[in-house]
Amino acid sequence: MTEAILLVGGKGTRLRPLTVHTPKPMVPAAGVPFLTHQLARARAAGVEHIVLATSYLAEVFEPYFGDGSALGLHLEYVTEEEPLGTGGAIRNVASRLRSGPDEPVLIFNGDILTGLDIRALVDTHETSGADVSLHLTRVDDPRAFGLVPTDATGRVQAFLEKPQTPEEIVTDQINAGAYVFRRSVIDTIPEGRPVSVERETFPQLLAAGAHLQGMVDSTYWLDLGTPQAFVRGSADLVLGRAPSPAVPGRRGDRLVLPTAEVAPDAKLTGGTVVGAGAVIGAGARVTGSAVLDGAVVEPGAVVTDSLIGAGARIGARTVLAGAVVGDGARVGADNELRDGVRVWCGAQLPDGSVRFSSDQ
Ligand code: GDD
Ligand code: MG
Repeated sequence: MTEAILLVGGKGTRLRPLTVHTPKPMVPAAGVPFLTHQLARARAAGVEHIVLATSYLAEVFEPYFGDGSALGLHLEYVTEEEPLGTGGAIRNVASRLRSGPDEPVLIFNGDILTGLDIRALVDTHETSGADVSLHLTRVDDPRAFGLVPTDATGRVQAFLEKPQTPEEIVTDQINAGAYVFRRSVIDTIPEGRPVSVERETFPQLLAAGAHLQGMVDSTYWLDLGTPQAFVRGSADLVLGRAPSPAVPGRRGDRLVLPTAEVAPDAKLTGGTVVGAGAVIGAGARVTGSAVLDGAVVEPGAVVTDSLIGAGARIGARTVLAGAVVGDGARVGADNELRDGVRVWCGAQLPDGSVRFSSDQ
């Protein structure tokens, strides 16, 4: 049996204007809490037992996912009193694992959307005989990630988390946030204190001569740490660019959940999702966006690459581009909001009060 640990704790504040009461992994992407996609992909790869390691707003996970049987999984939940960091969180759930000392345990960062072939990562681990195997991906700007140079055989040479100087940027290969640990390696992480697997465990293992193996691929990969990335990920799930067995409907230009109401001449494109009970008014155009449950987009509004929180209302003819509107907020008619603007949950913006373009 393969088992896994899913890391869903830490500070997790970056979607906060949208989700004051909802941890990031529970914000819907393509119609279901984001975490559902990761759980369903792990299940499809043969994982049966998953421990959720969390440290904040933990009380929302268990009521929704329960024992995991609806997904064919056995799920357990462990909550840290204080965030223990990635390594501390892994160590903290070790007692829940059932694998023997030499067996592989999968570990996933909880904010990654990817087409990773999970079985291939386990196979790489087993054929290379590594202590830890890491999924690596190539990015244009690696500075926000863990840099992982490898030799010609894929063996990891160094692990450089969030490099600070140009000299440290030695590769465009980064840690993609999925690992296979030999079970006994997990038990060597110090217990009861914060540990960063990236800053402490991996560098120490390398210094001690351990075998860390990288598997580089070019499959779909996105860190959903920012609201803009989250919107992109949701649209890519709807479009089918990001594979997930948990999307509730057919892949295509749009996903309209049951009980949503869309005016016949409204235009939904680019992987837009419209949540349950949401309303899209006449002539509205919504592209590459997520309209969460119960939100209302009034007639003539033009929404692009934006997230509209649950129960929020967007006034007639208002333009949103790259905007995040929090749950229950009201943006009046004839506004124009662009480029990363974030409207706090429940905020009220009167008609015609913000625009970016000239007054003519
Ligand atoms: N339980 C628990 N406790 N989970 C945590 C904690 C903690 O104290 N701290 C972080 N996590 C979880 C987060 O919820 C997330 O799923 C994952 O660990 C990674 O933490 P982030 O805060 O998202 O880190 P990052 O995105 O800056 O960097 C990480 O991911 C990159 C890929 O997206 C690192 O692993 C980098 O090396 C990597 O390149
Ligand atoms: Mg992250």
